[in-house]
Amino acid sequence: MKCLCLIAILAIVIAQNYSDLGVEAASSDAFVSRKGVQFILNGKPFYANGFNAYWLTYEATDPATRFKITNVLQNATSHGLTIVRTWGFRDGGYRALQTAPGSYDEVTFQVRKGLDFAIAEAKRLGIKLIIPFVNNYSDFGGRKQYVDWAKSKDQSVTSEDDFYTNPLVKEFYKNHVKTMVNRVNTLTKVAYKDEPTIMAWELMNEPQCKADPSGKTLTAWITEMAPYVKSLDSNHLLSTGLEGFYGDSSPERKNSLNPAAANVLGTDFIANHNLDAIDFASFHSYPDLWFPNLDENSRLDTLRKWLEGHIEDAQNILKKPLILGEFGKLTSTPGYTLAQRDAVFNATFDTIYASAQKGGSAAGALFWHVISDGMDNLKDSLSICTQ
Ligand SMILES: *[C@@H]1O[C@H](CO)[C@@H](O)[C@H](O)[C@H]1NC(C)=O
Ligand SMILES: *[C@@H]1O[C@H](CO)[C@@H](O)[C@H](O)[C@H]1NC(C)=O
Ligand SMILES: *[C@@H]1O[C@H](CO)[C@@H](O)[C@H](O)[C@H]1NC(C)=O
Ligand SMILES: *[C@@H]1O[C@H](CO)[C@@H](O)[C@H](O)[C@H]1NC(C)=O
Repeated sequence: MKCLCLIAILAIVIAQNYSDLGVEAASSDAFVSRKGVQFILNGKPFYANGFNAYWLTYEATDPATRFKITNVLQNATSHGLTIVRTWGFRDGGYRALQTAPGSYDEVTFQVRKGLDFAIAEAKRLGIKLIIPFVNNYSDFGGRKQYVDWAKSKDQSVTSEDDFYTNPLVKEFYKNHVKTMVNRVNTLTKVAYKDEPTIMAWELMNEPQCKADPSGKTLTAWITEMAPYVKSLDSNHLLSTGLEGFYGDSSPERKNSLNPAAANVLGTDFIANHNLDAIDFASFHSYPDLWFPNLDENSRLDTLRKWLEGHIEDAQNILKKPLILGEFGKLTSTPGYTLAQRDAVFNATFDTIYASAQKGGSAAGALFWHVISDGMDNLKDSLSICTQ
């Protein structure tokens, strides 16, 4: 089956061109920092215009497929996309990065040039990276693998949510953070913590904790881990990787913006981000998944309200920049058309741009997700293919 083509969104991507706002190019070899509600690069505002490609390290591990990273990153820059969000983990299993707690596979890091290569290629092509340290879900290991490792060391853990509280699991996580930030890239010779190509770390991809719907357990974990990351790496920005569901600290938003199913997931957009060590707020948007019964127009309306609510709260309550770390349009939605996808991209970019134009908190969006030609094995109903 043919992939959807990146060209189809070219017109919209250009609409997201921030150059009239006097911004700095991502290719600048300096660290992205934060001033108030904006990102700053070389003293100028900076906006994140990009996409997700979680598979970079995985494909870079095999010399035969490494060209896919180069192709996708080159294609991206030619479309003005300069930020890529990609996994900084693969815990256990095939082509693992971390094979056991504290044990790393040089093959995945370096020998066949996995993560080292992905970072070096991004650097060469003038792209910046956002990298989460672990997955909420059991794909590529995730919280489940950490908890299983603790179980095999006789810890009394029963569910994936023990990830946030078990002392040994917390040590495993901190150890992974320490290994990542102190890693010296064998190709660039630059430690990851000193690498300006990395724009930011995220504590986790889409953290959830159903064991405590109040959101307090997750907040406590972030309160411990965020300062830990910053104590080892003060160069990089840090966020949570949250989907952005509201919790008890904003009952009105919880009521008006959350899908009902999200109220038991144990996250709290305000409380989870309202910590000094968190530099910017993170949220995602999937109205097709969250509001499957709405018609297309109502869903677009819901999308705009979701975006505007978070932009206002980042601006007025958190006083931090905000990145939409994932968004997309499911091709599996009944009656799907390309025009519907373009409308979702347009509404998203348009809402963010309107805030950016006023110097507001919306600092960019990363769509989910780009795969390269010949990667049909990673295809899902949100993939956009470069060719
Ligand atoms: C985009 O990727 C394809 C292969 O997937 C490659 O042939 C093409 O040259 C790339 N285009 C750019 C502008 O890099
Ligand atoms: C953005 O706009 C500027 C000026 O209008 C133009 O020079 C530049 O090529 C555009 N960039 C992209 C990626 O379209
Ligand atoms: C997060 O992990 C839990 C399992 O602990 C899973 O039920 C849930 O679907 C995951 N959420 C996402 C967004 O992956
Ligand atoms: C994009 O969105 C803006 C406002 O949200 C609207 O005015 C414009 O018509 C839309 N364009 C397309 C091509 O859908």
